[in-house]
Amino acid sequence: MCGIVAYIGPREAYPLILKGLKRLEYRGYDSSGVALLNDDLRVYKKKGKVAELEESLVGQDVHAHAGIGHTRWATHGEPSDRNAHPHSSASGRLAMIHNGIIENYAQLKNELIKKGYSFQSDTDTEVLLNFVEDIQKNNNCGLEEAVRIALRRVVGAYVIVLLDKDHPDTIIAARKGSPLVIGIGKGEHFLASDASPIIEYTKEVVYVNDYELAILKADELILKNLGNEKITPFIQKLDLELAAIEKGGFEHFMLKEIFEQPETIFDCLRGRLDAEKGIITMAGVENNIEKLRNADRMIIIACGTSWHAGLVAEYIFEELCRIPVEVEYASEFRYRNPVIHNGDVIIAISQSGETADTIVAIEKAKEQGAFIMGVVNVVGSSIARLSHAGAYTHAGPEIGVASTKAFTAQLAVLTMIALKIAKEKDTIDQTRYMHLLAELHTIPEKAREALKAADSIKKLASRYANDANALYLGRGYNFPVALEGALKLKEISYIHAEGYPAAEMKHGPIALVDETLPVIFVATRDSYHDKIVSNIQEIRARKGRVVAVISQDDEVIPKMAEDYMTVPETDELLAPMLSVIPLQLFAYYIGIAKGCDVDKPRNLAKSVTVE
Ligand code: G6P
Repeated sequence: MCGIVAYIGPREAYPLILKGLKRLEYRGYDSSGVALLNDDLRVYKKKGKVAELEESLVGQDVHAHAGIGHTRWATHGEPSDRNAHPHSSASGRLAMIHNGIIENYAQLKNELIKKGYSFQSDTDTEVLLNFVEDIQKNNNCGLEEAVRIALRRVVGAYVIVLLDKDHPDTIIAARKGSPLVIGIGKGEHFLASDASPIIEYTKEVVYVNDYELAILKADELILKNLGNEKITPFIQKLDLELAAIEKGGFEHFMLKEIFEQPETIFDCLRGRLDAEKGIITMAGVENNIEKLRNADRMIIIACGTSWHAGLVAEYIFEELCRIPVEVEYASEFRYRNPVIHNGDVIIAISQSGETADTIVAIEKAKEQGAFIMGVVNVVGSSIARLSHAGAYTHAGPEIGVASTKAFTAQLAVLTMIALKIAKEKDTIDQTRYMHLLAELHTIPEKAREALKAADSIKKLASRYANDANALYLGRGYNFPVALEGALKLKEISYIHAEGYPAAEMKHGPIALVDETLPVIFVATRDSYHDKIVSNIQEIRARKGRVVAVISQDDEVIPKMAEDYMTVPETDELLAPMLSVIPLQLFAYYIGIAKGCDVDKPRNLAKSVTVE
């Protein structure tokens, strides 16, 4: 949510920042801007995508060796040139970009208005910036000191990055609750919301922690806490290649990421699963096995697609480990007064590792003594660092805003965790254990097989592109897949879609069924197959248009459905990793047929760092 890039060093800052903003556009794309500092401080900003900013700057003076850039996902104030970042302070001396929300901005704004300040934008950012400037004026102190004082009053989450016209050799940044990475080059420094704008220039990075302030010069990095004490920067090596964040010949990141799934699931299993020997190696689980096997209850906390992965995991953990599981929306959990016991294990699932609601929910559970196991994709992210233990999903950078490969990788990791605990607890018999390991081993290949249906799904999808609604139904392990399929469709194509347990549709959604409504059944062969066939009949009896995701050898459903998409057969517990693939493609091709920007759907953001 909002992308931040900054640079100081011998290179031209503007082209570098622009490229970085394009890489970060998945975080927000309703406006963007840059501030460039030489002898003077120039601020350029524009409503719309980064390309529109670029176009508006053709012919402008963009020469500078220090600069900050921002791509916005609106919180305070509509998307407009005026509300775009960077913001300038009242004197015009300071420029600032911000990711996050200043919760007490109204109070600070009132104080400033009483002092005679006026505001050009509706943003909380401009308030904070002028608050900093005001402190500097009143205390006659440097910018660094003023930022420190200001942040002690600020309630909320932020990454802020500031330029000061009087100090063109310095960039100041601070973080609480939103991500910030510093890239360390030779005689230059980079700053960004994630490593993707940095990777091309250096692999040495420092992840800034909450309540830390970074003072960057071309050849110097100083980290301090808000108490003005120096902190030794912990330099890490990035394990990320440039190719991983480029489209690699695909028209969209989303399609690339859907097609990467055979490899990403394989990468997730690699080095962990030895199906022949019946061994799963996961240090995060092994080192904490007593806590996990003795868990009285598991609470899964997540948002969005990760929450759907949590729902599948609920079925898997209860089935294999016989541990009661609750799956919670992080945003609800954090504001409730949840009952957490000592023996509870929290599993936090997050692709980005930066989702604000999930972070706060974890902190809350941690305070009450719960053990936190993170299932996270982005290495070194906030949730990964907050967790007591964890397992990375190794899906590589996911850039398409709608999550695809992260979901299947999450399922692979969660399945392995469950299998390991079940083995340890002896709640699974050896034959089933070995069977599931062997089946899991085949999933990457079966995912490759499932992707072969892409062309036929493309044709089929075009027939549904003009519909206004869709209902997705599934049972058992495929119920969360129905939710995920519906989510993908609404995210990408803006068609209203609802997911429901197939049997529950009798209690409401069936009222919607007529000859215009597509009803998408996730009906691969499993122990609920006969039941879902009956549900299909119920829809047909009301003239609904049945589309089904089925197993390759299913001979029954093709006779009943208007359209169907097939996936290879597997154990029902592993089926979601395959049955979701046609639904991802279905949503993608409908989005394309409707001319939607599938990588950057309207109003959405990849990494939701506001609550
Ligand atoms: C946003 C993204 C979704 C994602 C959700 C949770 O809404 O657009 O794709 O599922 O956040 O994000 P996380 O990074 O915590 O998995």
